[in-house]
Amino acid sequence: MLSIRHLNKAYRGPGSRLMLRDIGFEVAAGEYVAIMGESGVGKSTLLNLVAGLDLPDSGSIAFEGSELTALDDNARTLLRRDRMGFVFQAFHLLPHLTVAQNVMLPLRLGGAAADHSARLTGDMLEAVGIGALAAAYPRELSGGEMQRVAIARALVHRPRLVLADEPTGNLDAESAGQVLAVLREAVKRNAGAGILVTHSAAAAATTDRIYRLTAEGLQRSGEQ
Ligand SMILES: Nc1ncnc2c1ncn2[C@@H]1O[C@H](COP(=O)(O)OP(=O)(O)O)[C@@H](O)[C@H]1O
Ligand SMILES: [Mg+2]
Repeated sequence: MLSIRHLNKAYRGPGSRLMLRDIGFEVAAGEYVAIMGESGVGKSTLLNLVAGLDLPDSGSIAFEGSELTALDDNARTLLRRDRMGFVFQAFHLLPHLTVAQNVMLPLRLGGAAADHSARLTGDMLEAVGIGALAAAYPRELSGGEMQRVAIARALVHRPRLVLADEPTGNLDAESAGQVLAVLREAVKRNAGAGILVTHSAAAAATTDRIYRLTAEGLQRSGEQ
């Protein structure tokens, strides 16, 4: 479903350095993988490239037969909207929309009917344990609650590919366990695929395979 080949990305300017070095990996339909690594090593950068939010300096990102680096901005945006769900590390909730409106947005943008969207949104909020917060605004929420809204929004349109950037960083162990189960189920349903970026060994253990990202590249955890 997802095939990454010889990906390189450098940030230029003062103190410029190669961020991602010859990254390659595959995620088949039905597979859920974790990427671990120290802060600043480029995990969020890699996830942004996979989502087509940023472009590599070289290399290939093929997703369900589309080469992302060959698409224009608009095509990448549509593909992401329809087939990917991204849980941003910094949530990126819209402050003037309620919790339910934030979560519903991907469905409405994709053209789903209002009543259908409302039903899926309600189910999704229940699944991540914040059904009672549907009418609240982001400013009224704790960090952990905002994180769960971000997860609900990423999953509500049943994306083929789930990309989650440290989705349990603000959660207590119980809430983390709950959303990790929801994420795994979302990936496994319809044989989708998922990438979980995390610092937590317990979170990584909910996936099928663990990679470690270092300055030298990406390696299967346990391999040298
Ligand atoms: N747009 C950018 N321009 C310049 N440097 C960036 C940019 N985005 C990220 N970086 C740098 O790249 C490094 C890796 O960032 P990031 O991918 O967020 O790492 P991680 O998610 O593993 O903590 C950081 O040192 C960060 O400062
Ligand atoms: Mg990061």
